[in-house]
Amino acid sequence: MSEASDPIFARIARRYDFINVLLSFGREQAWRRRGIAHLPPGRILDLGSGTGAADPVLHGFDVVGLDPVSEMLQLSPMSDRVVAIGESMPFADESFEGVFSAYVFRNLTSIDRTLGEIRRILKPGGKAVIVDLSRPRNPILRFLHRLGSAIALPLAGLIVRAPGDYWYLHKSLDKLAPVEELYADGPLRVERTWRMGPFGFVYGAVLAK
Ligand SMILES: C[S@@+](CC[C@H](N)C(=O)[O-])C[C@H]1O[C@@H](n2cnc3c(N)ncnc32)[C@H](O)[C@@H]1O
Repeated sequence: MSEASDPIFARIARRYDFINVLLSFGREQAWRRRGIAHLPPGRILDLGSGTGAADPVLHGFDVVGLDPVSEMLQLSPMSDRVVAIGESMPFADESFEGVFSAYVFRNLTSIDRTLGEIRRILKPGGKAVIVDLSRPRNPILRFLHRLGSAIALPLAGLIVRAPGDYWYLHKSLDKLAPVEELYADGPLRVERTWRMGPFGFVYGAVLAK
């Protein structure tokens, strides 16, 4: 079941939700909720659904959770769960009204392939809503944020006895272009983007087919 398992998420699965709440000062669900408000009604894929943390705020949708790490999926309350990667999804063309993905895109092997797959499985007019972490846009705030995360994240990692894994999280925040550029040349049309959280280091994006 865990052929594509990401060893980091397999290791931290049981402590994942606790540390998320701690690191976001309890705001991580509000950031998800703000994105979910843009989803159309109908069948929704939660891409990289992990432990199913979005489940309580996806009520009213027909939700399929997809994640490569079975250790994460096993903890999920979602009834429809699929072990797979976003870059190659086992779904028919045009089979979802919407795709939601929170705190996943930094972990993907290929954003281009995943966006291509999202376009394929979305119905015409369907929407993808992406929420993820990055760095503030302003260079001074970005520097301060980088400094803060270099200290805070390994410390938080110590609490859950996985400092190395949380150093990876610190590094991953610098991996991608800012949201204002990241999806601009992709296969889906950028409908809107926004920033949330301290210094605007959390972003949301609505992409339309
Ligand atoms: C930070 S967790 C986010 C989980 C959940 N979306 C949430 O809001 O709590 C990132 C998740 O992305 C998953 N992931 C990693 N690589 C992936 C890939 N290539 N395709 C889909 N999901 C992936 C991990 O297994 C992990 O469960």
